[in-house]
Amino acid sequence: MDKKIKSYQSVITGVGASLPKSIVTNKDLTMRIDTSEEWIVNRTGIEERRIASDDETTSSLGAEASKIAIKNAQIENSEIDLIILATATPDNTFPASATLIQSSLGIDKCYAYDIQAVCSGFVFALEAADNAIKAGNVKNALVIGSETFSRILDWEDRGTCVLFGDGAGAVVLSSKEGTERGILSNHLHSDGRYADLLYVDGGPSTSSKVGFLKMDGQGVFKHAVKNLSAVIEEALEYNNLSVDDIDWFIPHQANIRILESVAKKVGLSQDKIIITVQKHANTSAASIPLALFDAVQEDKIKKGDLVLLEAMGGGFSWGSTLIRW
Ligand code: COA
Repeated sequence: MDKKIKSYQSVITGVGASLPKSIVTNKDLTMRIDTSEEWIVNRTGIEERRIASDDETTSSLGAEASKIAIKNAQIENSEIDLIILATATPDNTFPASATLIQSSLGIDKCYAYDIQAVCSGFVFALEAADNAIKAGNVKNALVIGSETFSRILDWEDRGTCVLFGDGAGAVVLSSKEGTERGILSNHLHSDGRYADLLYVDGGPSTSSKVGFLKMDGQGVFKHAVKNLSAVIEEALEYNNLSVDDIDWFIPHQANIRILESVAKKVGLSQDKIIITVQKHANTSAASIPLALFDAVQEDKIKKGDLVLLEAMGGGFSWGSTLIRW
Protein backbone atom coordinates (compact mmCIF):
# COMPACT_ATOMS: atom_id res chain seq x y z
CA MET A 1 0.00 0.00 0.00
CA ASP A 2 1.22 3.46 -0.89
CA LYS A 3 1.80 5.18 2.47
CA LYS A 4 2.94 8.42 0.91
CA ILE A 5 0.70 11.24 2.13
CA LYS A 6 -0.13 13.59 -0.68
CA SER A 7 -0.62 17.27 -0.16
CA TYR A 8 -3.05 19.03 -2.49
CA GLN A 9 -3.57 22.73 -2.98
CA SER A 10 -6.77 24.26 -4.41
CA VAL A 11 -5.83 26.67 -7.19
CA ILE A 12 -8.27 28.89 -9.08
CA THR A 13 -7.67 27.99 -12.73
CA GLY A 14 -10.60 29.78 -14.38
CA VAL A 15 -13.07 32.56 -13.60
CA GLY A 16 -16.36 33.39 -15.33
CA ALA A 17 -19.28 35.77 -14.97
CA SER A 18 -22.72 36.36 -16.39
CA LEU A 19 -25.08 39.31 -15.97
CA PRO A 20 -28.71 39.81 -16.97
CA LYS A 21 -29.10 41.95 -20.07
CA SER A 22 -31.27 44.66 -18.52
CA ILE A 23 -29.44 47.56 -16.85
CA VAL A 24 -31.49 49.57 -14.34
CA THR A 25 -29.96 52.91 -13.41
CA ASN A 26 -30.70 54.99 -10.33
CA LYS A 27 -32.50 57.40 -12.64
CA ASP A 28 -34.75 54.55 -13.79
CA LEU A 29 -35.60 53.85 -10.14
CA THR A 30 -36.61 57.48 -9.55
CA MET A 31 -39.44 56.92 -12.06
CA ARG A 32 -40.68 53.99 -9.99
CA ILE A 33 -40.18 54.89 -6.33
CA ASP A 34 -39.71 57.97 -4.12
CA THR A 35 -35.90 58.23 -4.24
CA SER A 36 -33.14 60.29 -5.84
CA GLU A 37 -29.97 59.50 -7.73
CA GLU A 38 -27.98 61.51 -5.14
CA TRP A 39 -29.41 59.60 -2.16
CA ILE A 40 -28.52 56.21 -3.66
CA VAL A 41 -25.01 57.17 -4.80
CA ASN A 42 -24.12 59.05 -1.60
CA ARG A 43 -25.36 56.36 0.78
CA THR A 44 -24.28 53.28 -1.17
CA GLY A 45 -21.98 54.06 -4.12
CA ILE A 46 -24.40 52.21 -6.42
CA GLU A 47 -25.01 53.75 -9.86
CA GLU A 48 -26.76 50.89 -11.65
CA ARG A 49 -27.64 47.22 -11.32
CA ARG A 50 -28.70 44.35 -13.61
CA ILE A 51 -32.20 42.91 -13.21
CA ALA A 52 -33.09 39.46 -14.55
CA SER A 53 -35.91 39.07 -17.07
CA ASP A 54 -38.43 36.22 -16.69
CA ASP A 55 -36.28 33.84 -18.72
CA GLU A 56 -33.07 34.65 -16.81
CA THR A 57 -32.86 32.53 -13.65
CA THR A 58 -30.32 31.78 -10.95
CA SER A 59 -29.47 28.50 -12.72
CA SER A 60 -29.31 29.99 -16.24
CA LEU A 61 -27.02 32.84 -15.12
CA GLY A 62 -24.95 30.37 -13.07
CA ALA A 63 -24.62 28.03 -16.05
CA GLU A 64 -23.41 30.85 -18.32
CA ALA A 65 -20.82 32.00 -15.77
CA SER A 66 -19.72 28.37 -15.33
CA LYS A 67 -19.17 27.82 -19.07
CA ILE A 68 -16.83 30.82 -19.16
CA ALA A 69 -14.96 29.68 -16.04
CA ILE A 70 -14.50 26.16 -17.46
CA LYS A 71 -13.32 27.54 -20.81
CA ASN A 72 -10.82 29.80 -19.04
CA ALA A 73 -9.59 26.84 -16.97
CA GLN A 74 -8.95 25.03 -20.28
CA ILE A 75 -10.70 21.86 -19.21
CA GLU A 76 -13.76 19.98 -20.47
CA ASN A 77 -17.12 20.09 -18.66
CA SER A 78 -16.76 16.34 -18.04
CA GLU A 79 -13.64 16.98 -15.92
CA ILE A 80 -15.71 18.71 -13.20
CA ASP A 81 -16.14 16.38 -10.18
CA LEU A 82 -18.08 18.71 -7.87
CA ILE A 83 -20.42 21.69 -8.31
CA ILE A 84 -21.27 23.92 -5.36
CA LEU A 85 -23.69 26.76 -5.95
CA ALA A 86 -23.93 29.49 -3.33
CA THR A 87 -27.37 31.07 -3.55
CA ALA A 88 -30.21 32.38 -1.44
CA THR A 89 -32.48 32.61 -4.50
CA PRO A 90 -32.62 29.09 -6.00
CA ASP A 91 -34.88 28.42 -9.00
CA ASN A 92 -37.04 26.15 -6.82
CA THR A 93 -36.99 25.06 -3.19
CA PHE A 94 -35.61 21.79 -4.53
CA PRO A 95 -33.85 20.20 -6.34
CA ALA A 96 -30.65 22.12 -5.71
CA SER A 97 -30.14 24.61 -8.54
CA ALA A 98 -26.58 23.26 -8.73
CA THR A 99 -28.07 20.11 -10.29
CA LEU A 100 -29.88 22.22 -12.91
CA ILE A 101 -26.55 23.84 -13.77
CA GLN A 102 -24.94 20.39 -13.87
CA SER A 103 -27.58 19.25 -16.34
CA SER A 104 -27.24 22.30 -18.58
CA LEU A 105 -23.48 21.70 -18.66
CA GLY A 106 -24.17 18.12 -19.77
CA ILE A 107 -22.32 16.62 -16.81
CA ASP A 108 -23.71 13.40 -15.32
CA LYS A 109 -20.82 12.09 -13.26
CA CYS A 110 -20.18 14.73 -10.60
CA TYR A 111 -22.01 15.60 -7.37
CA ALA A 112 -23.72 18.96 -7.01
CA TYR A 113 -25.40 20.86 -4.22
CA ASP A 114 -26.39 24.35 -3.04
CA ILE A 115 -25.03 26.26 -0.06
CA GLN A 116 -27.15 28.91 1.62
CA ALA A 117 -25.12 31.47 3.56
CA VAL A 118 -26.63 34.51 1.79
CA CYS A 119 -24.00 37.17 0.96
CA SER A 120 -21.19 35.07 2.50
CA GLY A 121 -22.22 32.07 0.41
CA PHE A 122 -19.32 32.23 -2.01
CA VAL A 123 -16.61 32.04 0.68
CA PHE A 124 -18.56 29.26 2.44
CA ALA A 125 -18.74 27.36 -0.87
CA LEU A 126 -15.03 27.89 -1.55
CA GLU A 127 -14.19 26.42 1.87
CA ALA A 128 -16.28 23.31 1.20
CA ALA A 129 -14.70 22.81 -2.23
CA ASP A 130 -11.21 23.46 -0.83
CA ASN A 131 -11.75 20.78 1.82
CA ALA A 132 -12.96 18.26 -0.78
CA ILE A 133 -9.85 18.93 -2.88
CA LYS A 134 -7.45 18.80 0.09
CA ALA A 135 -9.01 15.49 1.17
CA GLY A 136 -8.09 14.13 -2.26
CA ASN A 137 -11.73 13.47 -3.24
CA VAL A 138 -12.03 16.00 -6.04
CA LYS A 139 -9.78 17.11 -8.89
CA ASN A 140 -11.81 20.01 -10.31
CA ALA A 141 -14.61 21.82 -8.47
CA LEU A 142 -16.91 24.41 -9.95
CA VAL A 143 -17.80 27.01 -7.31
CA ILE A 144 -20.58 29.39 -8.28
CA GLY A 145 -22.33 32.37 -6.72
CA SER A 146 -25.56 33.15 -8.54
CA GLU A 147 -28.52 35.23 -7.42
CA THR A 148 -31.78 36.78 -8.61
CA PHE A 149 -32.48 38.98 -5.58
CA SER A 150 -34.83 41.12 -7.69
CA ARG A 151 -37.39 38.31 -7.18
CA ILE A 152 -37.38 38.74 -3.38
CA LEU A 153 -37.29 42.54 -3.26
CA ASP A 154 -40.27 44.57 -2.15
CA TRP A 155 -40.31 47.20 -4.89
CA GLU A 156 -42.39 49.42 -2.61
CA ASP A 157 -39.64 49.49 0.05
CA ARG A 158 -37.16 52.16 -1.04
CA GLY A 159 -34.87 51.32 1.89
CA THR A 160 -33.98 47.94 0.35
CA CYS A 161 -34.98 47.70 -3.32
CA VAL A 162 -32.34 50.20 -4.47
CA LEU A 163 -29.52 48.16 -2.94
CA PHE A 164 -29.55 44.84 -4.78
CA GLY A 165 -28.96 43.44 -8.26
CA ASP A 166 -28.82 40.09 -10.09
CA GLY A 167 -25.88 38.20 -11.57
CA ALA A 168 -23.55 35.22 -11.37
CA GLY A 169 -19.85 34.48 -11.07
CA ALA A 170 -18.01 31.18 -11.05
CA VAL A 171 -14.54 29.76 -10.54
CA VAL A 172 -12.91 26.44 -11.30
CA LEU A 173 -10.89 25.27 -8.32
CA SER A 174 -8.33 22.64 -9.34
CA SER A 175 -6.24 20.25 -7.29
CA LYS A 176 -2.49 20.83 -7.70
CA GLU A 177 0.45 19.12 -6.04
CA GLY A 178 3.84 20.62 -5.23
CA THR A 179 2.81 24.27 -5.35
CA GLU A 180 2.61 27.10 -2.87
CA ARG A 181 -0.21 28.68 -4.85
CA GLY A 182 -3.87 28.25 -3.99
CA ILE A 183 -6.13 28.70 -0.97
CA LEU A 184 -4.04 29.34 2.14
CA SER A 185 -6.81 29.68 4.70
CA ASN A 186 -10.55 29.94 5.24
CA HIS A 187 -12.19 31.48 8.31
CA LEU A 188 -15.96 31.18 8.61
CA HIS A 189 -18.40 32.42 11.26
CA SER A 190 -22.13 32.58 11.95
CA ASP A 191 -24.21 34.17 14.69
CA GLY A 192 -27.93 33.42 14.47
CA ARG A 193 -28.83 35.86 17.26
CA TYR A 194 -29.00 38.54 14.56
CA ALA A 195 -31.22 36.64 12.12
CA ASP A 196 -33.97 39.27 12.40
CA LEU A 197 -31.76 42.14 11.17
CA LEU A 198 -31.67 40.76 7.60
CA TYR A 199 -34.10 38.08 6.46
CA VAL A 200 -36.85 37.12 4.03
CA ASP A 201 -40.32 36.98 5.57
CA GLY A 202 -41.50 33.81 3.87
CA GLY A 203 -40.46 30.28 3.00
CA PRO A 204 -41.85 26.76 2.64
CA SER A 205 -41.86 25.81 6.33
CA THR A 206 -43.49 28.96 7.66
CA SER A 207 -45.76 30.41 5.01
CA SER A 208 -47.14 29.86 1.56
CA LYS A 209 -45.45 32.93 0.08
CA VAL A 210 -41.91 33.37 -1.22
CA GLY A 211 -41.54 36.53 0.90
CA PHE A 212 -39.63 39.79 0.70
CA LEU A 213 -36.24 40.87 1.96
CA LYS A 214 -36.42 42.83 5.24
CA MET A 215 -33.49 44.70 6.70
CA ASP A 216 -32.46 46.92 9.58
CA GLY A 217 -29.92 48.87 7.50
CA GLN A 218 -28.09 50.57 10.34
CA GLY A 219 -27.90 47.39 12.40
CA VAL A 220 -26.42 45.49 9.46
CA PHE A 221 -23.98 48.31 8.71
CA LYS A 222 -22.60 48.34 12.26
CA HIS A 223 -22.12 44.57 12.46
CA ALA A 224 -20.68 44.42 8.93
CA VAL A 225 -17.86 46.84 9.74
CA LYS A 226 -17.07 45.06 13.02
CA ASN A 227 -17.21 41.50 11.67
CA LEU A 228 -15.41 42.18 8.40
CA SER A 229 -12.58 44.02 10.13
CA ALA A 230 -12.26 41.14 12.62
CA VAL A 231 -12.22 38.44 9.96
CA ILE A 232 -9.53 40.28 7.96
CA GLU A 233 -7.38 40.57 11.08
CA GLU A 234 -8.01 36.89 11.87
CA ALA A 235 -6.76 35.84 8.41
CA LEU A 236 -3.69 38.08 8.67
CA GLU A 237 -2.78 36.81 12.14
CA TYR A 238 -3.33 33.14 11.20
CA ASN A 239 -1.00 33.51 8.20
CA ASN A 240 1.48 35.71 10.06
CA LEU A 241 1.00 38.57 7.60
CA SER A 242 0.46 42.30 7.89
CA VAL A 243 -2.19 44.21 5.97
CA ASP A 244 0.51 45.60 3.66
CA ASP A 245 1.43 42.06 2.52
CA ILE A 246 -1.97 41.69 0.82
CA ASP A 247 -1.94 42.67 -2.86
CA TRP A 248 -5.71 42.66 -3.50
CA PHE A 249 -8.81 42.76 -1.33
CA ILE A 250 -11.95 41.46 -3.00
CA PRO A 251 -14.80 42.20 -0.61
CA HIS A 252 -18.45 41.34 -0.90
CA GLN A 253 -19.86 44.38 -2.69
CA ALA A 254 -22.69 45.57 -0.43
CA ASN A 255 -22.04 49.25 0.01
CA ILE A 256 -19.11 51.57 -0.68
CA ARG A 257 -19.38 53.09 2.80
CA ILE A 258 -18.98 49.66 4.44
CA LEU A 259 -15.89 49.03 2.28
CA GLU A 260 -14.40 52.41 3.19
CA SER A 261 -15.10 52.01 6.91
CA VAL A 262 -13.51 48.54 6.97
CA ALA A 263 -10.50 49.81 5.00
CA LYS A 264 -10.02 52.64 7.49
CA LYS A 265 -10.40 50.35 10.51
CA VAL A 266 -7.80 47.79 9.38
CA GLY A 267 -5.53 50.35 7.67
CA LEU A 268 -5.70 49.03 4.14
CA SER A 269 -5.02 51.15 1.12
CA GLN A 270 -8.07 51.94 -1.06
CA ASP A 271 -6.20 51.29 -4.30
CA LYS A 272 -5.84 47.61 -3.39
CA ILE A 273 -9.62 47.10 -3.14
CA ILE A 274 -11.52 45.78 -6.15
CA ILE A 275 -14.77 47.73 -6.30
CA THR A 276 -17.68 46.87 -8.60
CA VAL A 277 -20.64 47.85 -6.41
CA GLN A 278 -21.25 50.94 -8.59
CA LYS A 279 -22.25 48.79 -11.58
CA HIS A 280 -23.59 45.57 -9.99
CA ALA A 281 -25.10 46.79 -6.66
CA ASN A 282 -25.29 44.05 -4.03
CA THR A 283 -25.55 40.70 -5.85
CA SER A 284 -25.19 38.69 -2.62
CA ALA A 285 -23.26 35.43 -3.18
CA ALA A 286 -22.42 36.49 -6.75
CA SER A 287 -20.65 39.71 -5.85
CA ILE A 288 -17.19 38.32 -5.03
CA PRO A 289 -16.79 36.14 -8.15
CA LEU A 290 -18.19 38.99 -10.30
CA ALA A 291 -15.58 41.36 -8.84
CA LEU A 292 -12.88 38.70 -9.19
CA PHE A 293 -13.81 38.24 -12.85
CA ASP A 294 -13.42 41.98 -13.48
CA ALA A 295 -10.04 42.06 -11.73
CA VAL A 296 -8.79 39.10 -13.78
CA GLN A 297 -10.16 40.56 -17.04
CA GLU A 298 -8.38 43.83 -16.29
CA ASP A 299 -5.18 41.88 -15.64
CA LYS A 300 -4.82 43.37 -12.17
CA ILE A 301 -4.01 40.17 -10.30
CA LYS A 302 -0.59 38.67 -11.07
CA LYS A 303 0.66 35.14 -10.42
CA GLY A 304 1.95 34.94 -6.84
CA ASP A 305 -0.18 37.86 -5.56
CA LEU A 306 -1.89 37.49 -2.20
CA VAL A 307 -5.64 37.96 -2.62
CA LEU A 308 -8.02 38.22 0.34
CA LEU A 309 -11.74 37.64 -0.19
CA GLU A 310 -14.13 38.64 2.59
CA ALA A 311 -17.90 38.72 3.00
CA MET A 312 -20.68 39.22 5.52
CA GLY A 313 -24.40 38.68 5.17
CA GLY A 314 -27.66 37.51 6.68
CA GLY A 315 -27.58 35.13 9.60
CA PHE A 316 -25.30 36.82 10.34
CA SER A 317 -22.65 34.84 8.52
CA TRP A 318 -19.21 36.10 7.58
CA GLY A 319 -15.85 34.81 6.47
CA SER A 320 -12.63 35.18 4.50
CA THR A 321 -10.54 33.23 2.02
CA LEU A 322 -6.84 33.97 1.52
CA ILE A 323 -5.41 32.90 -1.82
CA ARG A 324 -1.87 32.85 -3.22
CA TRP A 325 -2.77 33.53 -6.89
N1 COA B 1 -34.17 57.13 -1.23
C1 COA B 1 -34.37 58.22 -0.51
N2 COA B 1 -34.49 58.22 0.81
C2 COA B 1 -34.41 57.04 1.43
C3 COA B 1 -34.20 55.84 0.74
C4 COA B 1 -34.09 55.91 -0.66
N3 COA B 1 -33.89 54.82 -1.43
N4 COA B 1 -34.16 54.83 1.62
C5 COA B 1 -34.31 55.35 2.83
N5 COA B 1 -34.46 56.69 2.72
C6 COA B 1 -34.66 57.68 3.78
C7 COA B 1 -35.29 57.09 5.02
O1 COA B 1 -36.69 57.01 4.87
C8 COA B 1 -34.88 58.08 6.06
O2 COA B 1 -35.71 59.21 5.98
P1 COA B 1 -36.19 59.98 7.30
O3 COA B 1 -34.93 60.48 7.96
O4 COA B 1 -37.06 61.05 6.76
O5 COA B 1 -36.89 58.95 8.11
C9 COA B 1 -33.50 58.51 5.60
O6 COA B 1 -33.39 58.14 4.22
C10 COA B 1 -32.37 57.86 6.39
O7 COA B 1 -32.64 56.46 6.44
P2 COA B 1 -31.65 55.49 7.13
O8 COA B 1 -32.17 54.09 6.99
O9 COA B 1 -31.33 55.99 8.51
O10 COA B 1 -30.38 55.70 6.21
P3 COA B 1 -28.92 55.17 6.39
O11 COA B 1 -28.01 56.31 6.46
O12 COA B 1 -28.81 54.14 7.45
O13 COA B 1 -28.68 54.46 5.00
C11 COA B 1 -28.58 52.23 4.13
C12 COA B 1 -29.48 53.36 4.65
C13 COA B 1 -29.47 51.03 3.84
C14 COA B 1 -27.93 52.69 2.83
C15 COA B 1 -27.50 51.89 5.18
O14 COA B 1 -28.10 51.68 6.44
C16 COA B 1 -26.70 50.70 4.81
O15 COA B 1 -25.93 50.73 3.88
N6 COA B 1 -26.82 49.58 5.56
C17 COA B 1 -26.16 48.34 5.22
C18 COA B 1 -27.01 47.64 4.19
C19 COA B 1 -26.33 46.46 3.58
O16 COA B 1 -25.26 46.59 3.06
N7 COA B 1 -27.01 45.32 3.61
C20 COA B 1 -26.57 44.13 2.99
C21 COA B 1 -25.47 43.50 3.76
S1 COA B 1 -25.02 42.01 3.02
